Amino acid sequence: MSSSGGENDRGYRLLEWDSGFFGFGVARLTVPTADTAGMAGIIDMLRSRGVSLAYWATDPGDAGAQLAACSNGGWLADEKATYVIGLRALPPDGIPPPEAEISEYRSNEVDDALYRLALQSGVHSRFRIDPRFPPGAFERLYREWMRRSVGGELARAVLVAGPAGRISGMLTVGEQGGRGDIGLVAVDQAARGRHVGTSLVRAALRWFVGNGYQSAQVVTQRANVHACRLYRACGFEIEQIRNVYHFWL
Ligand SMILES: CC(C)(COP(=O)(O)OP(=O)(O)OC[C@H]1O[C@@H](n2cnc3c(N)ncnc32)[C@H](O)[C@@H]1OP(=O)(O)O)[C@@H](O)C(=O)NCCC(=O)NCCS
Repeated sequence: MSSSGGENDRGYRLLEWDSGFFGFGVARLTVPTADTAGMAGIIDMLRSRGVSLAYWATDPGDAGAQLAACSNGGWLADEKATYVIGLRALPPDGIPPPEAEISEYRSNEVDDALYRLALQSGVHSRFRIDPRFPPGAFERLYREWMRRSVGGELARAVLVAGPAGRISGMLTVGEQGGRGDIGLVAVDQAARGRHVGTSLVRAALRWFVGNGYQSAQVVTQRANVHACRLYRACGFEIEQIRNVYHFWL
């Protein structure tokens, strides 16, 4: 959930949305790799520009980049896994129907259950596990993500499990780079292990096929074993892993 702006010629991009939301300067490094000295130069530049936090996504196979990150104070915040599934070759009824009752959330008001689920969906998020974010930042971020998903800004639809007033799971569907994209996903703690998650993902795949998408993706954390198993069980395969570092300046 970030929008970009500012310089891009020196190996970084200032993130206007993130900076405004958190109340301090946030940037994303745009260089795919760097050595230790090169990274020190970028970090110095960011410091002189008043940036407080920089994100850097690196290829985990690039040992030089990992060294450059760690020796310049980078903190490994996320092993980000992108899962993809091809939908073109699937026959019309190739996706098994969801076992649980899944429907599109129609109200513009955000049910409290959705806010609770949004927080559960971010349990492994780098915004939750990095202790240097100000208290409450993760909660504000995920509530905002949910609110803007229901409002149609960050998702095209919100799928929910269970009837109104007793929502036990939710999943948001949208688009990224021409692919169908699953955003937030969570099943209430008390309802897990009963295939509600599987039903939500199957409903999402049917939604993508019904809306003409030829492939779909979902991004999660490698450490999120249950989510990774769920996506694999539903036919997704890993496309890419990225080690995401946080530099607090
Ligand atoms: C990930 C999550 C959505 C799964 O929902 P769920 O309803 O419990 O999942 P299902 O019952 O449909 O299980 C689907 C598969 O996932 C795996 N899985 C789910 N929960 C598991 C658990 N507690 N232990 C081991 N495997 C588990 C299993 O492989 C399972 O397949 P199986 O039934 O053939 O064993 C749920 O655990 C959750 O909300 N987690 C916290 C939020 C989160 O991590 N969201 C994902 C963000 S990307």
